Formats: sequence, structure tokens, C-alpha cells
Amino acid sequence: MAMKGILRPGLVQIRVMDVEAALSHYVDRLGLYKVGSDAGRAFLKGADEFEHHSVTLVEADTPGMDFIAFKVMEEADLDHFEARVRAEGIAVAHIAAGEQPGYGRRISFVAPSGHTIQLFAHAEQSEPKPDLANPDIWPVEPHGMGARRFDHMQLNGVRVPETLDFFTRVLDFYLAEKVDDESGAPIAIWLTCGMKAHDVAFVDGGVPGRMHHAAFELADWNAVGHAADIITKYNLSIDLGPTRHGITRGRTIYFFDPSGNRTEVFAEGYTYYPDHPVRVWDKQSLGKGIFYYQRQLNDNFMNVVT
Ligand code: FE2
Repeated sequence: MAMKGILRPGLVQIRVMDVEAALSHYVDRLGLYKVGSDAGRAFLKGADEFEHHSVTLVEADTPGMDFIAFKVMEEADLDHFEARVRAEGIAVAHIAAGEQPGYGRRISFVAPSGHTIQLFAHAEQSEPKPDLANPDIWPVEPHGMGARRFDHMQLNGVRVPETLDFFTRVLDFYLAEKVDDESGAPIAIWLTCGMKAHDVAFVDGGVPGRMHHAAFELADWNAVGHAADIITKYNLSIDLGPTRHGITRGRTIYFFDPSGNRTEVFAEGYTYYPDHPVRVWDKQSLGKGIFYYQRQLNDNFMNVVT
């Protein structure tokens, strides 16, 4: 598939109450690398990512997500998407290069769901990153759970049908899977801009702009088991897993950072092509869709968001 336009999730800014405690979670346990810091912020990345950083932890009074930024193929895409977003009557803000270290300019707007979405075209590279000359399988030996890269997010918000229309018609995402209510209206959508089963999911949560989880890619089912060992060894707060999703087919564990933000480690999942038909779940089958082995949802998963 010839990918252009929006390529992938590139950067998320997560609010935490204690940056040092969060670094223990995201670096020591999850396996990311700290590439820098400034007043109240720390910048992290996975070793399989080229860009300067993919996670910004920012000290705040409440947890949650400030924004998710997607990488576009080239500079002209920023102007292209700005015009399309403005044509919807949605305001677009400009964020100057350097606001995040190593990052070029970004455009920023609020999706119908209530979440701040950003796009960027350029970021400097930083270490560790994949080797290019006679490359080893990793540039540094993995530690902790061995998270390779930022993978996707689930965002709980409002106006899911309008969000689906906005992401597919304006931003050129594809709908891979959805859950419909009894009337056939979508209440949860899994959207992809590449060949992953999803790059971002939106769920009707009744409140705009909430973060359900940020997900990081592990190698395989064995790595998910290793992550579970680490969760128990260090007595981390767990939501559910190890298990598997029916939706996306991913292998998964959900657990919480010290501020209460949910983290997912995710492996595998099917390959998506843009000619694939949409997979549809009805509301009664949601338990099996989310937790394929347990076939029922838990209260934490449905109700805890930041
Ligand atoms: Fe997820």
C-alpha cells in the first residue's frame, strides 16, 4: 500500500502528578528510554523509533492526555490538512518548532470527541534508534517489558458518529472495526491510517476529551507474559490481563501508572488493508470483543478514565 498523508501516532503528552514516579513506570518497567527533560517535563522513546521522543510526561495536578500528535509524510500535508479541518469550521492552532525538543512545527485542533489532535511533519532523530548499517535486531538490549514503540491510544469522548466522519472523510483514516448500538449507530470505533488493525480508537464515554489508555508495542505473546511477570514482581496496579482482544486480535495487558493513567502493552493483531470491509460487533458481544477469553467486561475497564 502506498502510504501518504497521516502515517502513524508519533507523540503523546501525558499528565502525571509526579514525574520521577512516572519515570519508574515508563522507563524502568515499561522499557522506554529517557532522552531529555526540562522544567516539569520528561521526554521518552522506544528503541525501535527514529524520532526524538514519542512520549512527553508533564507534571500536572490531574492525570490525562494533553494531546496526541500524528506524523505526516511531508510538510505540505500540514497545509493540506489545515485547510480541510478549517473547512469543517474547526479552528486550527499553530505550535512553533521547538516547543517540544527536536520537533518541527505542529498544527493542533479539537476533534468532535473533545480530544486535542495534532499533526507534525518533522522531528529530529535521537538515540537509541534502529541501526541502518548492517543493523542488529535492536540498538541496545531491551530492559523491563521491552516496549518497542508507541502504538495506539483509546480515547473516550463524545460524538462518536461525528468523530468517525471527521477522521475518515477529513483526515483519511479507515474504519477497521466498530461496535454499534441497538439502532445501528457506532458507539466505539477502531481507526487505522496504515496497516495496523488500529492507530486510535474512540469510545462513547459521555464526557469529552478523556484518555482511556496509551498502548505500547511488545514483540509477541511471550513478551506479554514477561510483562505480566514484571507487573506482579513490582506489585504494579493491574486492570486486566494477560489476555487477548477479539477486536484487533491483539495480545494485551492493561495496568496503571502511578498517577492512574492506564497503560497497555500490546502485541500482534491482524494486518489491515484499505479495501478490507468493516468488522462489526453488536453491543451484546462487546465483552468477547474486548476480552476474548473472559468474554465479559470489568468495571475498571469501563469506568476508569483520566
Ligand atoms: Fe488498546
